[in-house]
Amino acid sequence: MNVPTFETMPSVAAARVSLRPLTPNDADDLLAVFGDAEVMRFWSSPPWTDRNDAVELIERVTRGAADNAFYQWGIALNDGNTVIGTCTLFQVDRRNRRAEIGFILRRDMWGKGLMSEAIGALLSFAFGTMNLHRIEADVDPRNENCLKLLERAGFVREGLLRERWLVNGEVNDSVMLGLLASEY
Ligand SMILES: CC(C)(COP(=O)(O)OP(=O)(O)OC[C@H]1O[C@@H](n2cnc3c(N)ncnc32)[C@H](O)[C@@H]1OP(=O)(O)O)[C@@H](O)C(=O)NCCC(=O)NCCS
Repeated sequence: MNVPTFETMPSVAAARVSLRPLTPNDADDLLAVFGDAEVMRFWSSPPWTDRNDAVELIERVTRGAADNAFYQWGIALNDGNTVIGTCTLFQVDRRNRRAEIGFILRRDMWGKGLMSEAIGALLSFAFGTMNLHRIEADVDPRNENCLKLLERAGFVREGLLRERWLVNGEVNDSVMLGLLASEY
Protein backbone atom coordinates (compact mmCIF):
# COMPACT_ATOMS: atom_id res chain seq x y z
CA MET A 1 0.00 0.00 0.00
CA ASN A 2 1.24 3.49 -0.89
CA VAL A 3 1.28 6.51 1.38
CA PRO A 4 -2.12 8.15 0.76
CA THR A 5 -2.82 11.76 -0.15
CA PHE A 6 -5.77 13.62 1.36
CA GLU A 7 -8.43 15.76 -0.31
CA THR A 8 -8.91 17.45 3.07
CA MET A 9 -6.41 17.18 5.89
CA PRO A 10 -7.93 14.76 8.44
CA SER A 11 -8.39 15.64 12.11
CA VAL A 12 -7.14 13.21 14.76
CA ALA A 13 -8.78 12.99 18.18
CA ALA A 14 -7.22 12.17 21.56
CA ALA A 15 -8.61 12.35 25.10
CA ARG A 16 -7.85 15.97 26.08
CA VAL A 17 -6.69 17.42 22.76
CA SER A 18 -7.42 17.09 19.06
CA LEU A 19 -5.19 17.61 16.04
CA ARG A 20 -7.10 19.73 13.55
CA PRO A 21 -6.37 21.97 10.54
CA LEU A 22 -5.42 25.55 11.43
CA THR A 23 -7.74 28.38 10.38
CA PRO A 24 -7.19 32.18 10.20
CA ASN A 25 -9.03 32.43 13.55
CA ASP A 26 -6.08 30.69 15.25
CA ALA A 27 -3.56 33.51 14.60
CA ASP A 28 -3.61 34.99 18.12
CA ASP A 29 -3.40 31.54 19.75
CA LEU A 30 -0.36 30.72 17.59
CA LEU A 31 1.38 34.00 18.42
CA ALA A 32 1.08 33.07 22.12
CA VAL A 33 3.08 29.90 21.36
CA PHE A 34 5.66 30.97 18.75
CA GLY A 35 6.15 34.45 20.23
CA ASP A 36 7.50 33.07 23.54
CA ALA A 37 11.32 33.13 23.63
CA GLU A 38 11.50 30.30 26.19
CA VAL A 39 9.34 28.03 24.03
CA MET A 40 11.44 28.92 20.97
CA ARG A 41 14.81 28.42 22.73
CA PHE A 42 15.75 25.34 20.67
CA TRP A 43 13.59 26.01 17.59
CA SER A 44 15.15 26.30 14.13
CA SER A 45 14.09 29.96 13.76
CA PRO A 46 13.80 32.97 16.14
CA PRO A 47 10.64 33.80 18.15
CA TRP A 48 7.89 35.64 16.27
CA THR A 49 7.43 39.33 16.94
CA ASP A 50 4.33 40.02 14.89
CA ARG A 51 0.80 38.64 14.38
CA ASN A 52 1.60 38.64 10.66
CA ASP A 53 4.04 35.77 11.31
CA ALA A 54 1.03 33.72 12.42
CA VAL A 55 -1.07 34.74 9.43
CA GLU A 56 1.76 33.73 7.09
CA LEU A 57 2.26 30.37 8.84
CA ILE A 58 -1.44 29.56 8.54
CA GLU A 59 -1.34 30.37 4.80
CA ARG A 60 1.81 28.30 4.28
CA VAL A 61 0.43 25.35 6.25
CA THR A 62 -2.89 25.43 4.41
CA ARG A 63 -1.05 25.36 1.05
CA GLY A 64 1.24 22.57 2.30
CA ALA A 65 -1.73 20.37 3.17
CA ALA A 66 -3.56 21.16 -0.09
CA ASP A 67 -0.41 20.10 -1.99
CA ASN A 68 0.00 17.04 0.28
CA ALA A 69 3.59 18.25 0.83
CA PHE A 70 3.48 18.51 4.66
CA TYR A 71 0.88 18.46 7.39
CA GLN A 72 0.94 20.84 10.37
CA TRP A 73 -1.98 20.36 12.74
CA GLY A 74 -3.16 22.75 15.40
CA ILE A 75 -3.29 21.05 18.81
CA ALA A 76 -6.63 22.21 20.18
CA LEU A 77 -7.97 21.67 23.68
CA ASN A 78 -11.11 19.55 23.46
CA ASP A 79 -12.48 21.81 26.16
CA GLY A 80 -12.85 25.16 24.33
CA ASN A 81 -10.99 24.56 21.02
CA THR A 82 -8.08 26.93 21.87
CA VAL A 83 -4.94 26.07 19.90
CA ILE A 84 -2.11 25.47 22.40
CA GLY A 85 0.53 24.22 19.96
CA THR A 86 1.15 22.44 16.71
CA CYS A 87 2.59 19.15 15.52
CA THR A 88 3.89 18.47 12.05
CA LEU A 89 4.76 15.70 9.63
CA PHE A 90 7.14 17.18 7.06
CA GLN A 91 9.85 16.02 4.66
CA VAL A 92 7.23 13.46 3.63
CA ASP A 93 9.01 10.97 1.36
CA ARG A 94 6.31 8.77 -0.14
CA ARG A 95 8.70 6.50 -2.02
CA ASN A 96 10.59 5.56 1.14
CA ARG A 97 7.51 5.88 3.35
CA ARG A 98 9.14 8.21 5.86
CA ALA A 99 8.60 11.66 7.35
CA GLU A 100 10.03 13.94 10.00
CA ILE A 101 8.10 14.98 13.08
CA GLY A 102 8.05 18.39 14.80
CA PHE A 103 6.02 19.82 17.68
CA ILE A 104 5.63 22.81 19.97
CA LEU A 105 3.44 23.60 22.97
CA ARG A 106 2.48 26.80 24.81
CA ARG A 107 4.66 27.24 27.91
CA ASP A 108 1.88 27.11 30.53
CA MET A 109 0.71 23.76 29.08
CA TRP A 110 4.02 21.93 29.67
CA GLY A 111 4.26 19.15 32.26
CA LYS A 112 0.69 17.83 31.85
CA GLY A 113 1.36 15.05 29.34
CA LEU A 114 -0.60 16.92 26.64
CA MET A 115 2.10 16.72 23.97
CA SER A 116 2.71 13.03 24.67
CA GLU A 117 -1.00 12.53 24.11
CA ALA A 118 -0.90 14.53 20.86
CA ILE A 119 2.20 12.68 19.61
CA GLY A 120 0.60 9.34 20.49
CA ALA A 121 -2.36 10.24 18.27
CA LEU A 122 -0.04 11.50 15.53
CA LEU A 123 2.06 8.32 15.54
CA SER A 124 -1.05 6.18 15.35
CA PHE A 125 -2.18 8.23 12.32
CA ALA A 126 1.29 8.19 10.72
CA PHE A 127 1.93 4.45 11.06
CA GLY A 128 -1.74 3.50 10.61
CA THR A 129 -3.65 5.68 8.13
CA MET A 130 -0.52 6.97 6.37
CA ASN A 131 1.29 3.63 6.32
CA LEU A 132 4.68 5.21 7.06
CA HIS A 133 7.64 2.92 7.66
CA ARG A 134 9.90 5.33 9.57
CA ILE A 135 9.58 8.64 11.41
CA GLU A 136 12.56 10.89 12.16
CA ALA A 137 13.22 13.73 14.58
CA ASP A 138 15.98 16.36 14.67
CA VAL A 139 16.53 17.74 18.18
CA ASP A 140 18.93 20.18 19.83
CA PRO A 141 21.02 18.03 22.25
CA ARG A 142 20.21 20.54 25.07
CA ASN A 143 16.44 20.14 24.56
CA GLU A 144 15.89 17.66 27.38
CA ASN A 145 12.08 17.93 27.45
CA CYS A 146 11.87 17.03 23.81
CA LEU A 147 14.36 14.14 24.03
CA LYS A 148 12.51 12.76 27.05
CA LEU A 149 9.18 12.90 25.23
CA LEU A 150 10.52 11.20 22.10
CA GLU A 151 12.36 8.43 23.95
CA ARG A 152 9.26 7.78 26.05
CA ALA A 153 7.36 7.41 22.76
CA GLY A 154 9.91 4.81 21.59
CA PHE A 155 12.27 6.89 19.43
CA VAL A 156 15.91 5.77 19.39
CA ARG A 157 18.94 8.11 19.20
CA GLU A 158 20.72 7.35 15.94
CA GLY A 159 23.48 9.93 15.72
CA LEU A 160 24.77 13.44 16.24
CA LEU A 161 24.99 15.88 13.32
CA ARG A 162 27.45 18.66 14.10
CA GLU A 163 26.77 22.38 13.56
CA ARG A 164 23.62 21.73 11.54
CA TRP A 165 21.73 24.96 12.38
CA LEU A 166 22.66 28.63 12.35
CA VAL A 167 19.98 30.44 14.38
CA ASN A 168 20.26 33.97 15.74
CA GLY A 169 24.07 33.89 15.54
CA GLU A 170 24.25 30.53 17.35
CA VAL A 171 25.66 27.32 15.82
CA ASN A 172 23.67 24.25 16.96
CA ASP A 173 24.12 20.48 16.68
CA SER A 174 21.30 17.98 16.07
CA VAL A 175 20.58 14.65 17.71
CA MET A 176 18.81 12.53 15.10
CA LEU A 177 16.23 10.04 16.37
CA GLY A 178 14.15 7.49 14.54
CA LEU A 179 11.15 5.26 15.17
CA LEU A 180 10.30 2.33 12.89
CA ALA A 181 6.82 0.98 12.26
CA SER A 182 8.09 -2.44 13.38
CA GLU A 183 9.09 -0.99 16.77
CA TYR A 184 5.91 1.01 17.25
C1 LIG B 1 8.96 19.49 23.94
C2 LIG B 1 7.67 19.86 24.67
C3 LIG B 1 6.49 19.77 23.75
C4 LIG B 1 7.48 18.89 25.84
O1 LIG B 1 6.33 19.26 26.59
P1 LIG B 1 5.93 18.42 27.89
O2 LIG B 1 4.71 18.99 28.44
O3 LIG B 1 7.13 18.28 28.77
O4 LIG B 1 5.69 16.98 27.25
P2 LIG B 1 4.70 15.83 27.67
O5 LIG B 1 3.37 16.06 27.12
O6 LIG B 1 5.40 14.57 27.29
O7 LIG B 1 4.59 15.93 29.24
C5 LIG B 1 5.50 15.23 30.06
C6 LIG B 1 5.52 15.81 31.44
O8 LIG B 1 4.18 15.93 31.92
C7 LIG B 1 4.06 15.14 33.16
N1 LIG B 1 2.67 14.65 33.21
C8 LIG B 1 1.71 15.16 34.01
N2 LIG B 1 0.54 14.54 33.76
C9 LIG B 1 0.77 13.62 32.81
C10 LIG B 1 -0.05 12.68 32.14
N3 LIG B 1 -1.34 12.58 32.40
N4 LIG B 1 0.51 11.89 31.20
C11 LIG B 1 1.82 12.00 30.90
N5 LIG B 1 2.64 12.88 31.50
C12 LIG B 1 2.13 13.69 32.45
C13 LIG B 1 5.15 14.12 33.05
O9 LIG B 1 5.54 13.62 34.30
C14 LIG B 1 6.26 14.91 32.40
O10 LIG B 1 6.87 15.76 33.34
P3 LIG B 1 8.46 15.75 33.55
O11 LIG B 1 9.05 16.29 32.26
O12 LIG B 1 8.67 16.66 34.71
O13 LIG B 1 8.85 14.33 33.76
C15 LIG B 1 7.75 21.31 25.24
O14 LIG B 1 8.83 21.37 26.14
C16 LIG B 1 7.94 22.36 24.15
O15 LIG B 1 7.00 22.80 23.51
N6 LIG B 1 9.18 22.80 23.96
C17 LIG B 1 9.47 23.87 22.99
C18 LIG B 1 9.35 23.44 21.56
C19 LIG B 1 10.33 22.39 21.21
O16 LIG B 1 11.49 22.45 21.63
N7 LIG B 1 9.88 21.41 20.44
C20 LIG B 1 10.66 20.27 20.06
C21 LIG B 1 11.47 20.53 18.87
S1 LIG B 1 12.08 18.96 18.26
